Amino acid sequence: MTVEVAGVRYPTPVMTASGCAAAGRELTPFLDLAAIGAVVTKSVMLDARSGRATPRMVETPSGMLNSIGLQGPGIDTFLADDLPWLVKQGAQPVVSIAGGSLGEYAELARRVGMAPGVAAVEVNISCPNVENRGLVFACDPFQAARVISATRRGIPKDIPVLAKLSPDVTDIVTVAEAVMEGGASGLSMVNTTLGLAIDPVTLRPALGGVTGGLSGPAIRPLALRCVWQVYAAMPEVPIIGIGGIRTGFDALEFLAAGASAVQVGTSTFHDPSSPARVADELRSELALRAAVSPREVVGVAHRPAGTSALRAEVSM
Ligand code: DHB
Repeated sequence: MTVEVAGVRYPTPVMTASGCAAAGRELTPFLDLAAIGAVVTKSVMLDARSGRATPRMVETPSGMLNSIGLQGPGIDTFLADDLPWLVKQGAQPVVSIAGGSLGEYAELARRVGMAPGVAAVEVNISCPNVENRGLVFACDPFQAARVISATRRGIPKDIPVLAKLSPDVTDIVTVAEAVMEGGASGLSMVNTTLGLAIDPVTLRPALGGVTGGLSGPAIRPLALRCVWQVYAAMPEVPIIGIGGIRTGFDALEFLAAGASAVQVGTSTFHDPSSPARVADELRSELALRAAVSPREVVGVAHRPAGTSALRAEVSM
């Protein structure tokens, strides 16, 4: 089940998604952090932040809306406490960073780049919960590329920089091309999509932050379409698929569309063992199709029917 993404080896293709379990501590009663693909940490900013007004989460049909506002301990505490803890667990830490300006990303990169044990850096340029929509860098190819190149400069060459893209764009391929041009090593696709829910009693927006990021199975076809389009345009670019993955087959869909690995997020709220369980289920799905490794199925959905060596008939 080992995979390589942008030059880094992971024990399985199934990682946690950023934002659903801080730095992973609360998952330890439910799974072995060293046995899953990687722990992608909640996006950390330069300073500690208390986040947005409550309520911050609301359930929607097959999904979840959240507006946390990048609550977190700030980079100093993260590097002093959380990262060393993750390294001690034997986990592969993928550190997610978020900044409000180019300078902040550059400074975060410089500090993360000096810390030991970082497997990869995921650059959150697509947080939906910022005061100013102009700060969603991933919605502008030029700004997205500038953030990635500012980050890349601070990170040692052997540590990949993954750009986390937003699905809230007209042409995701243009953004993907821009960030690769800016120096990204690969893409995490996709972040949440902007949504809104109304409280039935007050008839006001249900979230304190008014709008929020929609995640969960509701966005899986949207995420899958994004992965498909980018793989079709740039099959050599490493992609990590994210969006409503809940089962091994969901993960397999993303691999077939072109992802080399996947992340599981919202599913951990009702099953905290999800990242381990999805990997187990994916192993069975691959065996059922006589695939010897996850690599064998990456992008198969793009090949003409009947041209892959995978077992053609799968009885469900
Ligand atoms: C937050 C950040 C995200 O990137 C996201 O998709 C959803 C919520 C936040 O901290 O508010």
